[in-house]
Amino acid sequence: MTALTFPLADAARRISQEERDAVLAAPGFGQHFTDFMAHARWSIDGGWHGGELIPFGPISLSPATAVLHYAQEIFEGMKAFRHADGSVWTFRPEKNAERLQRSARRLALPELPTEDFLASVRELVAADEPWVPTAGGEAGEASLYLRPFMFASEEFLGVRAAQQVDYYVIASPAGNYFPRGVQPLVVWITDAFARAGAGGTGAAKCGGNYASSLLGKREAAQNGADEVLFLDSETHTAIDELSGMNVFALTRDGRIETPTLTGSILEGVTRDSLLRLAADRGLEVVETRMVAEDVLARVASGEITEMFACGTAAVITPIGEFRSPQGAWTVGDGGSGELTLALRSELTDIQYGRAEDRYGWLTRL
Ligand code: COI
Repeated sequence: MTALTFPLADAARRISQEERDAVLAAPGFGQHFTDFMAHARWSIDGGWHGGELIPFGPISLSPATAVLHYAQEIFEGMKAFRHADGSVWTFRPEKNAERLQRSARRLALPELPTEDFLASVRELVAADEPWVPTAGGEAGEASLYLRPFMFASEEFLGVRAAQQVDYYVIASPAGNYFPRGVQPLVVWITDAFARAGAGGTGAAKCGGNYASSLLGKREAAQNGADEVLFLDSETHTAIDELSGMNVFALTRDGRIETPTLTGSILEGVTRDSLLRLAADRGLEVVETRMVAEDVLARVASGEITEMFACGTAAVITPIGEFRSPQGAWTVGDGGSGELTLALRSELTDIQYGRAEDRYGWLTRL
């Protein structure tokens, strides 16, 4: 099979420079979209074909399109960063390509080869280059958030893997994921819902996992919290993850802990990168079963001094308080932990080219 390319079919920009500049000054998260999007199609007879860049805009679908009924869909989240010299880079994109392939296998979707994934991202960002926020600009640590996704586009109501699949990449200038910025989060521990079950799709990045988190998020909001923490579905005791982020704890005696990848937790690229950076700082890295009751007791006793959420969108965001139907627990002094912020700076300094990229994590776009 020959490699895909994504030529620009229509070079006219959708949005004026004035409007774009206004968006880039205060991008928020996930609200504004660029001029173009990448597209390719897979069919059972022809494999992947038809790579193109087209104007960002509505997709026309039959009401009988399989994804609308059976949720055969997967996605990725990654970012393009502008460095001080104007160049544009992305972070560990091959990890996203590989995770999309793992998600595809779990959802019975076709795997997109890594080189085609990288080409789609590279060529979209080249066309949408004016949308990559300026380093250290008015919006602070802003980036161009990239959302590759793939879904069953066949018009068919039988329950089986689709024989036609569409792949797109859209892009959205992004500031902080949380509306309050990098302020400590209040996290609600739900005992009403689980995000994913054993043998299910928890490790895949599929829309269904996020749909199943929504009632938990609503419950969190009703209790004055920013995020929801899910426990494992079997015993309802061990920490899995938040609605769309992994979770970490730092201890007084220099450990960094995060839940083991059990198959119901997403293998975060930020999670993996932080484990490396933390080990380099001399922290003892522990991937373990984290029982929520023990964690809260260790928070209360001061043994756990800091906790944080992490993901591509959330970067690293401190957790200041946990709430549950049983009570409330303040982490440390409820503020942003020193080590949490230091890890955040270390990661973002690499991403924005302010620190040496010692692991070769950056790819120039
Ligand atoms: C990301 O961090 O990129 C995600 O896909 C999670 C979502 C909550 C935005």
